[in-house]
Amino acid sequence: MVDPRKSIIDQRLGKIGRIIAVSSGKGGVGKSLVATTFALTLVQKGYNVGLFDLDFTSPSTHIILGAEDVQPIEEKGIIPPVVHGLEYMSLVFYTKDHATPLRGADVSNALIELFAITIWSNLDFLIIDMPPGIGDAMLDLIRLVANIEFLIVTTSSRLAFETVKKQAVLLQDLKVSTIGILENMKMDNNGCIQAQTGELGLRFLGGISFDPTVEEAIGDKSQLLGTAFARKVAEILGEP
Ligand SMILES: Nc1ncnc2c1ncn2[C@@H]1O[C@H](COP(=O)(O)OP(=O)(O)O)[C@@H](O)[C@H]1O
Ligand SMILES: [Mg+2]
Repeated sequence: MVDPRKSIIDQRLGKIGRIIAVSSGKGGVGKSLVATTFALTLVQKGYNVGLFDLDFTSPSTHIILGAEDVQPIEEKGIIPPVVHGLEYMSLVFYTKDHATPLRGADVSNALIELFAITIWSNLDFLIIDMPPGIGDAMLDLIRLVANIEFLIVTTSSRLAFETVKKQAVLLQDLKVSTIGILENMKMDNNGCIQAQTGELGLRFLGGISFDPTVEEAIGDKSQLLGTAFARKVAEILGEP
C-alpha cells in the first residue's frame, strides 16, 4: 500500500530548492556542528534556509544554536520557529530532551510524521542533521525525499572513513546524489582521505582543522560565526 503521507510530503517539500542531508557512517565526527554552521552561513549570504534536526539518537543543533526555549506553532500543520534567521525544526520539540529509545518502526513513523506536518516556506536550502550510521533513517529519507543530496562528513581516522566508505558506496548503488566528502578535525595525514575519496569517484570537498575556540562558541551564534571553523565551512561549502 502507498503511504498517503508520501504525497503530502511531496507537497510540503515542493517549494524547496535544495535539500541537503549532512550525514556520516559514524557519530561524533561533527555532523551537527557542520550542519548548523553551514545553515547559518547560508542565511548570512541572504538565502532562505531551514534546518531540520532528525537525529533521534542525540539531537544537538538546538544547543549549538542556543535555541533551547523556542517552540513551533500549530496551524493546520507545524510552523517551524525562526531562530537566527533559520526556519528551525527538531525532534527535540517532541521529546523534550528526554531520551527517545525509539525502535525501528517508531523511528520511521516519527520521521515520516515530521516531514508530513512541517510547513516550510519557499526555502532555497533545507539542511538536515542526520543521526549517525547507515540505518533506517537514511533509507527512509531516500525513499521520502526525491531530490535529496548527501553531504558526508568524516574525520581523518580510518575508523570513521571505513564506515563512510560503506555509506558512500551504498548511496552510489542507490543512485542517490552525493555532494562530496568533508574531512573534519583533520589530522596531518598527507592527503590520505582526499586520495581515497578520489578512488571512490567522489568529490573531496576539503579539510577543516580542529578549532579549540568552537566549544566556547556553542550556543552563541555570533561567536560561532566568528570562529576559524565557521570561516572554513563557508569557504568549503560556499557554493555547494
Ligand atoms: N572542527 C572542529 N573543531 C573543534 N571542535 C569540533 C570540530 N568539529 C566538531 N567538533 C566538536 O566535536 C564534537 C562532536 O561534534 P558533533 O557535531 O556533535 O558530531 P556528530 O553530530 O557527528 O555526532 C562536538 O563537541 C563539537 O563541538
Ligand atoms: Mg549530531
